[in-house]
Amino acid sequence: MKTNENVKAVILAAGKGTRMKSEKPKVLHEIFNKPLVSWVLSVCENAGSFENIVIVGHRGEMVSEFISKNHPKSVCVEQKEQLGTGHAVSMAKSALDAFSGCVLVLCGDTPLVTAESLKKFINFHYENNADVTVMSAILENPSGYGRVVRDSKDNVSEIVEQKDCTEVQKTINEINAGMYCLNWQKIKNFFNELKNNNSQNEYYMTDIIKWGNEKGLKVSGYILENADETLGINSRAQLAEAFNTMNLRHLNKLMDEGVTIVSPENTQISPETEIGEDTIVFPNTFINGKNKIGKNCKIGPFAHLRGDCVIEDFVKIGNFVELKKSYVKSHTNISHLSYVGDAKVGANVNIGAGTITANYNSITKEKKQTIINDGASIGSNTVLVAPVELGENAFIAAGSVITKDVGANALGLTRSPQREIKDYVK
Ligand code: UD1
Ligand code: CA
Repeated sequence: MKTNENVKAVILAAGKGTRMKSEKPKVLHEIFNKPLVSWVLSVCENAGSFENIVIVGHRGEMVSEFISKNHPKSVCVEQKEQLGTGHAVSMAKSALDAFSGCVLVLCGDTPLVTAESLKKFINFHYENNADVTVMSAILENPSGYGRVVRDSKDNVSEIVEQKDCTEVQKTINEINAGMYCLNWQKIKNFFNELKNNNSQNEYYMTDIIKWGNEKGLKVSGYILENADETLGINSRAQLAEAFNTMNLRHLNKLMDEGVTIVSPENTQISPETEIGEDTIVFPNTFINGKNKIGKNCKIGPFAHLRGDCVIEDFVKIGNFVELKKSYVKSHTNISHLSYVGDAKVGANVNIGAGTITANYNSITKEKKQTIINDGASIGSNTVLVAPVELGENAFIAAGSVITKDVGANALGLTRSPQREIKDYVK
């Protein structure tokens, strides 16, 4: 994605997330294996933000560690005490002091916003020559959010937090999405004048609207078309809601692209999973993390992909099959009750029911690879103890425990001979 040197983002991620009732900082709670703050950062990156400044605080070392590993273009700034959203944004003051572009402020707990919406938001801010633009949405149930108060000319005059609302203000259903576009040089004095005289004794970022109006700055409001992008996660129930929304959004996209999802309400597929045309995903399939699945595959029912899988075309991953960090070439069948992890599986391979790649040594904690070359056929109930390699067209007898490599076209078997004891039952 092309970055725009005139746009930087500040992401608020210092709060504890009291309402989550968790040891873990809220922004590290995950949807499809990816922390909330990481979804927000990916969206910023896709919207072209030049640099992301993440404000960390509560258990900040955990958040910083995750960010430095996974988002190398982002920097973390510490907010030692969490004194409110306005105070949090002010932590970026020295980093942004000389910056003449527009600063996008986002919350680390709103993972559903899309890059397309952020781009439209930024364009709207520029086209309006605004100094402050706030993103809002119209919600049927605005409870919990700050309300956007407009004057008789429909201009945004202030934002009032639910806890500070009058009874009349509580009936307003235009809410603050917690996202702002700021002409930094024009507004940077706001933080020196910000007060905490409200019901929570916090320094509210939302006060910038009233402040901007009083200073004669151009303040505008951008109403998001798709209100579900504004969902801010404060509780476990909202985390589940965000998961469902993100999932359904991706399933609809996949269906538009030619993938059959037999029963969307019983299927979960991470947005970081690509699937090719004419692949069919049967019910109760769960696909987590980043994966690439080809065309004309059959996945499920009851398949579990845990991430980092590449599956070529015409592959069958059947019921009760778990796959992790594996590459599967075309026309291969893994039809029933198998675990394939840390494996390279060739083309035209048949993996019989109940085959297990034993990839993990629980004493050394090491993971090892299994390589299965083209055309190999593995009998049911086989254990492949990694590291191990099966040659092209190798044939493994059912019930074998394979600890050594098997050559091309060879039969590998470790089965003990069958005995028959005559008249034993009598
Ligand atoms: C905030 C807005 C509210 C808006 C809602 C949208 C304020 C005062 N209120 O409320 O108008 O409708 O978001 O979701 O801005 N944070 C810090 N440091 C702090 C406080 C918060 O980094 O000192 C971070 C939190 O980690 C979180 C984000 O800021 O990611 C928002 O804070 P939160 O407490 O969730 O605000 P809301 O009450 O949801
Ligand atoms: Ca929130």
